[in-house]
Amino acid sequence: MQPVLGVLLTLAVALGSGHRSPLNDFQRLRATELLAVPVDPPPLLPEQGSSEQCAQRCAASPACRFLPSPRNGLEENYCRNPDRDKRGPWCYTVDPNIRHQSCGIKKCEDAVCMTCNGEEYRGTVDRTESGTECQRWDLQHPHKHPYHPDKYPDKGLDDNYCRNPDSSERPWCYTTDPGREREYCRIRLCTEKRLRPLNVTTGCFRGKGEGYRGRVNVTVSGIPCQRWDAQTPHRHHFTPEKYPCNDLQENYCRNPDGSEAPWCFTARPTIRVAFCFHIRRCPDELGAQECYHGHGERYHGHVSKTRKGITCQPWAAQAPHVPQISPVTHPEAHLEENYCRNPDNDSHGPWCYTMDPRTPFDYCAIKPCSGSTVPSILENADTVTFEQCGRRDERLQQKGRIVGGQPGNSPWTVSIRNRAGMHFCGGSLVKEQWVISTRQCFSSCDADLAGYEVQLGTLFKDPGPGDPNQQTIPITRIVCGPSESQLVMLKLARPAALNRRVALICLPPERYVVPAGTICEIAGWGETRGTADGSVLNVARLPVLAHNECNAALRGRLKESELCTAPLRAGVGACEGDYGGPLACLTADCWVLEGVIIPSRVCARTDQPALFIRVSLYVDWIHKVMKMG
Ligand SMILES: *[C@@H]1O[C@H](CO)[C@@H](O)[C@H](O)[C@H]1NC(C)=O
Ligand SMILES: *[C@@H]1O[C@H](CO)[C@@H](O)[C@H](O)[C@H]1NC(C)=O
Ligand SMILES: *[C@@H]1O[C@H](CO)[C@@H](O)[C@H](O)[C@H]1NC(C)=O
Repeated sequence: MQPVLGVLLTLAVALGSGHRSPLNDFQRLRATELLAVPVDPPPLLPEQGSSEQCAQRCAASPACRFLPSPRNGLEENYCRNPDRDKRGPWCYTVDPNIRHQSCGIKKCEDAVCMTCNGEEYRGTVDRTESGTECQRWDLQHPHKHPYHPDKYPDKGLDDNYCRNPDSSERPWCYTTDPGREREYCRIRLCTEKRLRPLNVTTGCFRGKGEGYRGRVNVTVSGIPCQRWDAQTPHRHHFTPEKYPCNDLQENYCRNPDGSEAPWCFTARPTIRVAFCFHIRRCPDELGAQECYHGHGERYHGHVSKTRKGITCQPWAAQAPHVPQISPVTHPEAHLEENYCRNPDNDSHGPWCYTMDPRTPFDYCAIKPCSGSTVPSILENADTVTFEQCGRRDERLQQKGRIVGGQPGNSPWTVSIRNRAGMHFCGGSLVKEQWVISTRQCFSSCDADLAGYEVQLGTLFKDPGPGDPNQQTIPITRIVCGPSESQLVMLKLARPAALNRRVALICLPPERYVVPAGTICEIAGWGETRGTADGSVLNVARLPVLAHNECNAALRGRLKESELCTAPLRAGVGACEGDYGGPLACLTADCWVLEGVIIPSRVCARTDQPALFIRVSLYVDWIHKVMKMG
């Protein structure tokens, strides 16, 4: 295995001849770790390593030999670590049978925990937070990357340890999983939060530059920055004492507050703050800066990662996913290598098949170019015909938790249940094996849903074992919608059986705008605040509000991807436990899923419109997810 070979060679070269052979100490190899042969118990030492007992770091390399010199610390017979042995300081022993031995000195606190963003962390964690083994920094596979140890000698890029060479939020590494490029590692925070002087001479920024630690100290237009520890010319509260982890040193541009980019107070009294957009981007982030026009159907750039950082599958490959769109089917679409493309004119931009077997396709980390305007979807709400139709047995309609609701019949509404079997959110059955719900119901787009289930076909929140229509089906997968859609699709372990109590709701045509005044229904088992029977499915009726009216009521905060219904005087609306459920509208004899219930600040308010995700904006995506599996 290549990584192991790397370790051996490095050690052999570093030690040269005439000294102890480190290879005698190791008998077997586990991944990239060298395991020591058990030796006699180390000499007794106090439990807690003090700073004196901690290994004195070997001074800069060339002078670092095994022979004592005034600068290398090899004095008397003290335990030292001139060869950076993984087990820490050692010494030659006076026992003729044991040439040398580790002294068993405990690691200093700062080697096992990190302060601030962990740029100085030099510990030996070598797995990501998902448990994936890290790729060695000196290798270029499975991931090609710019952080070669030789190029960044001061970043501690040893072996495959988690490091933070690029001022990210936390230490991270490239992973040995070809489908996952880089991932953060979980490293304990040191209890003592010190402001440590950093010695970073280079600096680049990624994301919004919260972790930028470089020395640029002028704004983008060249105005000098004010020192963070000064209160003139501008008074402010971003003092180094208050923000000990944000490295507010000197007058360097920083981003302590999650702004768009690093910034500073300027030394000019008339200009309070300004951005430092001219700081360069980190080398591996450059690709993500490209942008696309329109839907990106003519995007021919070289980004080849999804928005979650998963590497794209080459368009011509047949694994891990068998593509339905390939250079053969779409010869005009420039499907080269594994670059993000938009061969099917997906309205959410360039995408690719991914190397992650669980994610057939996803959108790429490319933004629409600024100035490329997306036409409003709210025009041209012409009459449309529905090809497929959500229908229900209207005889089941009666006079199930929705505030102000009535027990009702909503055969597409499903109850989503956690491992304890407790209802926590609603969803809508759009295909036998697919349920739509909202992102807010789940901790992440990679949430482990083992043990989660949907329950269908029953009016009751907690049906008895004898309920004849009840179906319970495990959830196998969660797929997050295009960014900002807040939608998720849940794949079921097997198709639901359709009957009088379980039916599909139909999807609106892409970009269909449901006319104002249409009477729609919300359904759920959520909080009723004592207004209805909380143990059965409740259904309530609400009229759709015109977009501009709703926008005015919300003081301009309504997005085009949202839809609202008028508040009713009686206080009817969705609450905790209803989220993810349907806003179903009867159009041309069909029940259509026009909205998905999302949380608003206060549930079921009498003076505020209720908000929903406008499903018609994401219908192309929904069909694509169902088609690809
Ligand atoms: C900081 O880095 C500079 C340039 O690499 C070096 O000369 C200096 O000695 C370093 N200072 C500390 C405290 O390590
Ligand atoms: C910016 O920092 C450099 C040292 O990194 C210093 O020489 C220079 O004077 C500073 N400029 C301003 C405007 O503070
Ligand atoms: C993609 O869709 C947009 C909007 O529907 C349309 O204007 C554009 O012409 C389409 N592009 C192609 C190549 O079909």
